Amino acid sequence: MSITTRRFTGSDADFALKTTLWNKAWPEYYRTEKIHRHDEETRNKEYYFIELIIEQDGTPIGMGEYMDDWDTDIDDDYFFMLYIDPDADFQAAANAFMNAMNADVASRGGKTSGTIMLENHEDRCQLLKDHGYTPAMREPRSELDVTSFDFSRYDWVDAKMADEKIEIVGLAEVKSRFADWQQRSYDLDWPIVSDIPTTVELKRQPFEEFIKHFSHPNHLVDGGYYAIDGDQLVGLSVVKAVDGNPEQLSVGITGVLPSHRRRGIATALKLETIKFARRYGAKIIKTDNEENNPMYDLNVQLGFKPKPALLIFEKNLQPQTTSEEA
Ligand SMILES: CC(C)(COP(=O)(O)OP(=O)(O)OC[C@H]1O[C@@H](n2cnc3c(N)ncnc32)[C@H](O)[C@@H]1OP(=O)(O)O)[C@@H](O)C(=O)NCCC(=O)NCCS
Repeated sequence: MSITTRRFTGSDADFALKTTLWNKAWPEYYRTEKIHRHDEETRNKEYYFIELIIEQDGTPIGMGEYMDDWDTDIDDDYFFMLYIDPDADFQAAANAFMNAMNADVASRGGKTSGTIMLENHEDRCQLLKDHGYTPAMREPRSELDVTSFDFSRYDWVDAKMADEKIEIVGLAEVKSRFADWQQRSYDLDWPIVSDIPTTVELKRQPFEEFIKHFSHPNHLVDGGYYAIDGDQLVGLSVVKAVDGNPEQLSVGITGVLPSHRRRGIATALKLETIKFARRYGAKIIKTDNEENNPMYDLNVQLGFKPKPALLIFEKNLQPQTTSEEA
């Protein structure tokens, strides 16, 4: 048995293959070919990004991609994703990919490497550990059944928002009220994003990168809700389409400026997304949150049910200095 890797070519056949392999390996994060193509076209090309197809005796059995992670504060911080056909030999396929990646990343002076894996795939997690990766963060996935959501539990929220003088409006209203809505969204985003638990320090996205998400195929104008205090945007909650599955929505982001927290604003925003999900015809909203993030508790209070968690694995690629050397 010979396992080899080759570069993804961008051909129609390779895009079809990528879509099939991704959906077999990560059905929880189903993606159509349209999304893969969109992401390929709009990816920030300044950053190193390599896709490898893994073949057994010439037959594709998996793919892996790795990139210099542009949104972290560390230069030469690499991140990779594996999507291997569950019927294939995961260990052999992953080893072939990781050997090819490791040689390249080492030659580029990579300092850290990370990836994600679902915790219920214990054998895959073990393989990562065998390669020196350790779990650095746990993010339970969770899902809300919107069809049975009981809004009467939250009948106090409208009065609370009126009391707090906070308006909750949709993105269409934000656009019509503020000509500079994109800049305002960008200004709202960073203080929130920088408070989301991560394994590494994040770097602020350039404005041009940030606004790309408003034209992503999964973006829904009616899925975005904003909290306004006077004429300032102070919070948001966004749900996105799950391409190819109209019965599901996924959470993009929920956040409130530090100055406005613990006033029920996130709760009010989430309720609007759930009402929208009902109008949209979705049965579930899915999300994942770091396990100690108050957002996770808030979601559980709302009725989100935990699913197997994503584990974020990290590996330091720098030679370790011993205490005698230091
Ligand atoms: C998580 C977050 C959105 C909560 O916003 P918020 O407007 O303060 O939330 P609410 O006021 O609606 O809180 C509702 C309930 O959630 C729980 N909760 C919220 N923040 C909490 C905290 N810091 N500690 C403990 N419980 C908390 C409480 O039960 C709270 O009810 P209570 O205030 O009556 O006790 C906000 O802290 C935030 O923006 N964090 C950074 C961004 C982030 O991590 N987003 C999630 C990932 S996308």
